[in-house]
Amino acid sequence: MTEPIPHEIRRYPPTQNKSLRAWSAADEHILKWFDDNQIEPENILILNDRFGYLTCHFNSSDVSVIADNRSQLKSTKKNLSNNQLDESTIQFLNPLEDIDKPFSYVCLNIPKSLEQFRFYLQKIHSVSTEESVVICGFMTRHFTPAILEVAQEYFEDVSQSLAWKKSRVLVLKRKKTQVRQIEVDSFTDTLPNGSEIKLKQYPGVFSLNRIDNATRFLVSNLSFEADDQHILDLGSGNGVLAKVVQIEKPGADIHLMDDSYLAIESSRLNMDEGSVSFHWTDTLDDIDEDIKFDLVISNPPFHLEYEVNTEVAVELFREVAGRLNQGGRFLCVANRHLGYRPHLKKFFTKCDELVSNKKFVIYSCRMNS
Ligand SMILES: C[S@@+](CC[C@H](N)C(=O)[O-])C[C@H]1O[C@@H](n2cnc3c(N)ncnc32)[C@H](O)[C@@H]1O
Repeated sequence: MTEPIPHEIRRYPPTQNKSLRAWSAADEHILKWFDDNQIEPENILILNDRFGYLTCHFNSSDVSVIADNRSQLKSTKKNLSNNQLDESTIQFLNPLEDIDKPFSYVCLNIPKSLEQFRFYLQKIHSVSTEESVVICGFMTRHFTPAILEVAQEYFEDVSQSLAWKKSRVLVLKRKKTQVRQIEVDSFTDTLPNGSEIKLKQYPGVFSLNRIDNATRFLVSNLSFEADDQHILDLGSGNGVLAKVVQIEKPGADIHLMDDSYLAIESSRLNMDEGSVSFHWTDTLDDIDEDIKFDLVISNPPFHLEYEVNTEVAVELFREVAGRLNQGGRFLCVANRHLGYRPHLKKFFTKCDELVSNKKFVIYSCRMNS
């Protein structure tokens, strides 16, 4: 029988919001399923374990973890270390990495993006045997019938538990023989100047099938100064903003940074060759400290799965202020209601509203001495 969790699990990045926890009832429900069935898995694959709660729990098994977010990796490793658990026995993998062994059990926290859920199931299917069992946790309020439909694309036997603490688990067994293989989506959209842009992206990466409205608003109002040479697209997603920079400012030294591995790998598919650097990270502190920017552009994140979270963006603003060259600019688009201005004013020597419409505002911030 599995023991109740004795570990202290914390969120990384940390939050000031005391009501936010590092795990959900859906995670607890997954552990309850193992308890109820008196199973101690010998080998287990874990996906979308945002802060490392499940990974810490199953530490004594042969564990492999697929992490899309660099912050998930960091959080998991911090929690392992804080609880004196050995990380060297765990195999950490990115979502595109080949896995060379089958698993008897797989745990998955169902992601908000159905495309990403399908992509993960495709991955799980490829490492499952006839006997493998997949336990997927979710909060009941996030249920849609499409979750069941996607699960049934990959497994013959899909059963749903009763609700417990407002959560449920789906248990998937008997993998199907013929399944759909999807890797990369692509779409064509029209930029504000009328030219077409074709973008590719892995499932779950921000804004499928069209350029996001806030991003489009930023592109319409993007202008460059003569000295703009080193340019960062912060929270770059599929790289649409960086791609526009590459078209409009040829010869610029362009950096793209995103917490999501699939986002960074998508942007590699979209950028042309040239002076382009890709950074899979959640913090500018991980980028060589000698690199400073003349211009940083961003449509920053304000969601963490189902959670509205502006703390991550505000921390990124603080970091940007420390990485601008003298006179450098930060152009950032945001929903009006997020009210970023007071934060930006704290970090930058100058912060103006460049332009706004009913929904969005673009802030133009500068760092002067
Ligand atoms: C609103 S989307 C914008 C994506 C893209 N720039 C666009 O305009 O379509 C925000 C992006 O920030 C990324 N992100 C979230 N937290 C991050 C962090 N701490 N550091 C870097 N990127 C982050 C998300 O993965 C997502 O791709």
